[in-house]
Amino acid sequence: MKFFIDTADTTEIRNAAEIGILDGVTTNPSLIAKSGRAFKDVILEICELVDGPVSAEVTATDYEGMVREGREFAGWAENIVVKIPLTREGLKACKTLTDEGIGVNVTLCFSTNQALLAARAGATYISPFIGRLDDLGQSGMDLIEEIVAAYANYPEIHTQVLVASIRHPRHVSEAALLGAHVATVPFGVIDKMFNHPLTDIGLEKFLKDWEKVPQG
Ligand code: G3P
Repeated sequence: MKFFIDTADTTEIRNAAEIGILDGVTTNPSLIAKSGRAFKDVILEICELVDGPVSAEVTATDYEGMVREGREFAGWAENIVVKIPLTREGLKACKTLTDEGIGVNVTLCFSTNQALLAARAGATYISPFIGRLDDLGQSGMDLIEEIVAAYANYPEIHTQVLVASIRHPRHVSEAALLGAHVATVPFGVIDKMFNHPLTDIGLEKFLKDWEKVPQG
């Protein structure tokens, strides 16, 4: 499974990229607003930091506007993927942009039927939001299981399941067990994924024992 980071904070992106485990970046209008920076500036800086796909989200809601923004963003850097909401207009724009060879990440997916429609529209990625379903008392992971299973029935579907709205490390491992292609993970969750108390205790003991080894 590939790891994307879900942030527009370039310090976080730089840190994750330096570790060497970063395959791409997803942003959304809320994350851009949180960065406090201008949209184009921050997207261009992210594209410099990361070779893999960088999702930049349209804010137009009509077909023409989404296509116009999508074409513009795609011209900014080679690794831009245009992020488009899962609406009727959005899927129409997805079809147009993918036919032009522009990568599209269809976002705000909350059902298997929506994911099937996005695949027919040629989406490069479908982004089901699992944390937001969990927040409503539904199982976000059940949705991932359904989409992965449904897509697997049709070899002609090349849309990758990009698990979004991840809230904790268990979401990541469960997504991998279900065969999701990508998890987009907030920096805080990536950080937690490294941690295990037995690793720390084990390392401390190895280093203590090493002090007893005769030197030279
Ligand atoms: O970028 C889309 C998604 O990951 C948002 O997550 O935490 O706002 O539900 P969240």
